[in-house]
Amino acid sequence: MAKIIDGKKIRDYNLGILANEVAELKENGIETCLAVIIVGNDSASRIYVNNKKAACEKIGIKSLEFALPEETTTEELIALIDKLNADGSVNGILCQLPVPKHINKNEVLERIFPSKDVDCFHPENVGRLSIGKGHLMPCTPMGMVKMLEYEGIDPAGKHCVVIGRSDIVGKPMAMLMLSKNATVTVCHSKTVDLPSITRQADILVAAVGIANFVKADMVKDGAVVLDVGMDRDENGKLCGDVDFDAVSEKASAITPVPGGVGPMTITMLMRNTVEAAKEQNKIY
Ligand code: GUN
Repeated sequence: MAKIIDGKKIRDYNLGILANEVAELKENGIETCLAVIIVGNDSASRIYVNNKKAACEKIGIKSLEFALPEETTTEELIALIDKLNADGSVNGILCQLPVPKHINKNEVLERIFPSKDVDCFHPENVGRLSIGKGHLMPCTPMGMVKMLEYEGIDPAGKHCVVIGRSDIVGKPMAMLMLSKNATVTVCHSKTVDLPSITRQADILVAAVGIANFVKADMVKDGAVVLDVGMDRDENGKLCGDVDFDAVSEKASAITPVPGGVGPMTITMLMRNTVEAAKEQNKIY
């Protein structure tokens, strides 16, 4: 039976460290501040934004919310970002996705100063990550790295197989695992004989978005399994990309859904905001 990697415990551990850093910044006269932009009325986005604000409050980060109407134009959104870029009291800027279809998402995300890009979506930050010079880190992948660190699992020399090639999770996770000296394989919907590859994984990352996609016969005995999925099963119950009950019989360690990788994403957003504040104030 696998060890269950407890995302809430690791979140609380990391938030404790971050709260101390925020307090230290405050003692130096710096109030760490995150600006969150939400456009339109997406109900899931509203919950995510509320959770982000609650995390800020918990560790002493000031959060500013800019809730814009659905009909906001790209130009109006960019004007707000320009204002926040120029505001020295704002350390991090996040534009919650998805934005309404008429908005040019890439133009918006690329307008955020790389130094304030706490999502690590800007091409400059993606490029830095790819050459091992990342400072602000992709939140979900970095959350998984912190989980491995906490559990004493060193990726060096291990075969890490990532299922999914999204810009937000799969690709940056591959980059991060490479920087930790893992041997990395990225699989996707066109991969031929996926199980033959996933069965080679010492660390298996499932980021496909399909409920219970990874079955026990796709997993090597003793593998570490990280599940990024947030799916619904046939009964409408929240589940991950991994068939948890069966896979946990084979894996040595596994993240549950909920309570696994999910709580770490916002924690790393907090980490990036603190890192941005330190960098902007030249505190190392
Ligand atoms: N929407 C869903 N996940 C995310 C995220 O990590 N960042 C932003 N900005 N929007 C999201």
